[in-house]
Amino acid sequence: MSIAHDLHRYGDAQQLAAALTDALARDLAAAVQQRGRASLVVSGGSTPLPLFRLLRHRPLPWTHITITLADERWVDPADAASNERLLRQELLRDEAAPARFISLKNPAPTPAAGAASVWSALQAVPRPFDVVLLGMGDDGHTASLFPGSPGIDAALAADAAPACVAMTAPVPPTARLSLNASALLQARQLYLHFTGEAKWQVWAHAADLPIGLTLRRAASRPQLYWSP
Ligand code: 6PG
Repeated sequence: MSIAHDLHRYGDAQQLAAALTDALARDLAAAVQQRGRASLVVSGGSTPLPLFRLLRHRPLPWTHITITLADERWVDPADAASNERLLRQELLRDEAAPARFISLKNPAPTPAAGAASVWSALQAVPRPFDVVLLGMGDDGHTASLFPGSPGIDAALAADAAPACVAMTAPVPPTARLSLNASALLQARQLYLHFTGEAKWQVWAHAADLPIGLTLRRAASRPQLYWSP
């Protein structure tokens, strides 16, 4: 493994979620204290669910916290596959209800057509992002940066300007919008969160996969939270 990182390892996913909630709450509270506002970029998928369910009960200065996504499926925000829907159901409620949310979806017919205007909406999110929370798929993708997707090399390129990019997933819903690697790396704290032995094996050989190619340019040392 050639990707520099710190490993935080837990006995199970619930213990991991509790520890990661503490870390995120600490970072967000410190950011608001130091700069008056904070930004949190989260991933979709199933892994962060227990984390969202804990974090939303934390008494943080949520009115000063802006939340957005690392990627979105190009479906209606009410669709079961929408990451925005997941966030509205699992994170943006209880104590966290007053947080400001910036959507990665707009009415454009395709992610390529909508990307520029989503990127301009994201200018409302404080930069560098205070916290970026990434997941990882079994194929080594992160956000919606899929190996083999048309445009993936440009999306991972070190000299690419930070942007939203259209990506194609190997499984439905295939139309995705993702922050590119340069945008994801604009982070004071970068967390990677995945669980299970199968993904551990993927991570062990991920240096040339999108997750590895993204993290190896990270300005802050990536913090990997893992449990079996
Ligand atoms: C998405 C995510 C994606 C996710 C991985 C892992 O929209 O699907 O942002 O990058 O983090 O696919 O997904 P699981 O947590 O469901 O395994």
